Amino acid sequence: MGIFKSEKISTRLFLFVTALDETVIARPNFELTEDGWEDLPPFTSQIASRQVKLGETPLYDHLCQLIQEPKYSFLKKNVEEYYELMNVLGNAELPSIYWQEINSLKRFGYYYGHTLAITAMIAKFGIDAGMQKDLLEIALKASLIHDIGIARLPHSILFSSQQFKEDEKIMMQQHPLVSYLLVGYYSQQEYDEIGRGVLYHHCPGELNNISIGYENKVAKEIAWLIFNADVFDALISNRPFRPAYAIANALNYLTRVNQAHSLPLDMVYWIEKRFKIPVSKRLGSNFIPIKPKIEGHQLN
Ligand SMILES: [Fe+2]
Ligand SMILES: [Fe+2]
Repeated sequence: MGIFKSEKISTRLFLFVTALDETVIARPNFELTEDGWEDLPPFTSQIASRQVKLGETPLYDHLCQLIQEPKYSFLKKNVEEYYELMNVLGNAELPSIYWQEINSLKRFGYYYGHTLAITAMIAKFGIDAGMQKDLLEIALKASLIHDIGIARLPHSILFSSQQFKEDEKIMMQQHPLVSYLLVGYYSQQEYDEIGRGVLYHHCPGELNNISIGYENKVAKEIAWLIFNADVFDALISNRPFRPAYAIANALNYLTRVNQAHSLPLDMVYWIEKRFKIPVSKRLGSNFIPIKPKIEGHQLN
């Protein structure tokens, strides 16, 4: 069994997908098969493949500023935590083409800050949960590039303040697939787990149904981390179509979506601990909490 289980993901593309070197890597009606990356042309730029750390890019200063925002104060309670977090983030490394991709998200306001914020959130969760160093490094790379496909969507969708129409909704749902194609083009098999994690970042539960090889275990962990940080960050942010949720309501929502997809609640319990909001204060009486497994967080 291969990586495609979800109808949503295997649907035919609606968009042209063009890489930053102007190579068209997919056209509308392109149907990605399980060996999809093998059909992509090779990315040959040596310069754009050079590894660069986040700390060496202008994004690092933006990240420092972003973390000062009150809504992200839960990520650093004191100076030690702040320096530890910024050190982990500053060392996150990617080929330089991805920094250009992330930079191009700036045009779309929310998605640029969102990318940095959820990466910081995953980094802090990883530190607190004692995640293995190499797994955390992979998760940070994936988090930084999970939404690069967004930059290929029409502006009318990205700047819409209305509910999406049906065709707009389908296009929006395809952004993980577009990110996945770009990762495949730029990095091929070297980013196999990262690509799979990115592909499933809005539906990590789908990976429960796929036969488990090591790559899928890592992909599952990555997809779950991004999903949780992504949903929480979206909820606590003002969006054109709704105001930000209160923290307790965002946690309730996050609990329910994880449960609906049979996913662990470690991130929920971690956020709760950072905000010091006891479960009993926020959930209705018919809610049955699942025991957290944040101590010694591991792949499952
Ligand atoms: Fe996304
Ligand atoms: Fe996202």
